[in-house]
Amino acid sequence: MEESVLGEYFELLRFASVGADPARLKDSVDCAMWLKKFLCELGFECELSTIDVRDGKAAPPVLFAERKGNEGAPCVLFYGHYDVQPADPESEWKTPPFEPTMIGQRIYCRGAQDDKGQFFAFLCGLRDYLGASKSPLTIKVLLEGQEESGSGALMELAHNMRRRLAADVMLVSDTAAAPGLRPAIVAGLRGVSHFTVRLTGPNRDLHSGEYGGVAPNPAQAIAQLISSLHNPDGSVAVSGFRDGIEPPSESERRAAEASAMSEQDCYNDIGCPSAGGQQGKTIAQRLSFEPTIEVNGIHSGYGGSGSKTVIPAEAIAKISMRLVPGQNVNVVASAVKRHLEDRCPNGVKLSIEDYNPGASGFRLPLSSPIFRLASSVLEEMDSRGPVFRWEGASIPVVSVLREASGAAPLIVGWGQPEDRIHSPNESYGVDQFAKAREWARRILASLEG
Ligand code: BES
Ligand code: MN
Ligand code: MN
Repeated sequence: MEESVLGEYFELLRFASVGADPARLKDSVDCAMWLKKFLCELGFECELSTIDVRDGKAAPPVLFAERKGNEGAPCVLFYGHYDVQPADPESEWKTPPFEPTMIGQRIYCRGAQDDKGQFFAFLCGLRDYLGASKSPLTIKVLLEGQEESGSGALMELAHNMRRRLAADVMLVSDTAAAPGLRPAIVAGLRGVSHFTVRLTGPNRDLHSGEYGGVAPNPAQAIAQLISSLHNPDGSVAVSGFRDGIEPPSESERRAAEASAMSEQDCYNDIGCPSAGGQQGKTIAQRLSFEPTIEVNGIHSGYGGSGSKTVIPAEAIAKISMRLVPGQNVNVVASAVKRHLEDRCPNGVKLSIEDYNPGASGFRLPLSSPIFRLASSVLEEMDSRGPVFRWEGASIPVVSVLREASGAAPLIVGWGQPEDRIHSPNESYGVDQFAKAREWARRILASLEG
């Protein structure tokens, strides 16, 4: 990578654009302005959304940029997100989380991969392309600052931007390649939605001797409720949860199995057996085609050193669900809510808070002509050719943008497990950056027709 490109990449990474943190709003705005300047210099007309969307709360701006091509030429929409996850827990970082640091052939920083590294590599490839071509294409770039926290502003804006977003193809670089950096076309993503369960009992934390055996215990109640969500075989126990699920076709299933990680790869990656999800189903099935309910956190009572004999006044659990095609977000949410309400132990009060419907999952037709074009480009880059992947993770706004733009999504990313996205010590390899950049240049050139 040229020194100048590395310098730009580092500038972008230094913005601590944690979209979910209101205290970082200024960093997000500065980041968006930096990107606006970058794209303006490439001949794009750029617009930052006003930062006052929904309930009057300031949100990181959405950047929309357009570079008009020839009349009637294909139109490409590129989507990426400049927000990053919080650095938390900061003490686990070996280098400062917002000071990019090159060690060997990798760049360490929050956002080095997800998604700044991935989309910036794409923008660099776009610049390479523009430098080498008369560029008949109309190119639109949409960069948001809230993907990691639900894409609030963009979800709100997308509908009204239909005309401006309209495109033939929507390119996204925010996913992983197969092991060994073998190219992968993402043919589906799970949806995600989440909420908080709060249980309240006594009006204060109580002495567990004075009231034990009399007062209801919200910590015990939340444990009981959470364990009721799954059957002993790991399957979800909520009735109605699986209604409408569209099973994968035989060819989707086979392709997913062919590119799945092995039990051993999984063990090496996560350091424990793949014991989650429904036993008896393969890793590929569980990751790509099965929905989940996951507990992201439980908090109640005393967790410090020594002991404290207390009955906590309340307990909360953070719950998220990964959804697959056919599941309706709101139907699923009501089924889970009813399940919890029906089983809530006596004496404690249940409330569901911060429900974020997110988006449902989707799968793209394997026969899509854009996949054929992408496959031939990826074969030129790597003689192994691409595999298809159905990611277990989500980019909720993609289905909304697909609808609003009418474009065929083409989701190709260059992540690897060692990037440790969302974890401390996130990084991106120089080789991955180069692939992402080359991919951008080549796919844009071949979209010229
Ligand atoms: N880039 C990821 C999604 C991803 C990760 C796709 C790995 C493929 C492989 C994205 O930024 C992400 O983290 N999405 C969140 C969305 C949620 C916070 C609403 C997710 O999947 O949890
Ligand atoms: Mn991402
Ligand atoms: Mn992410």
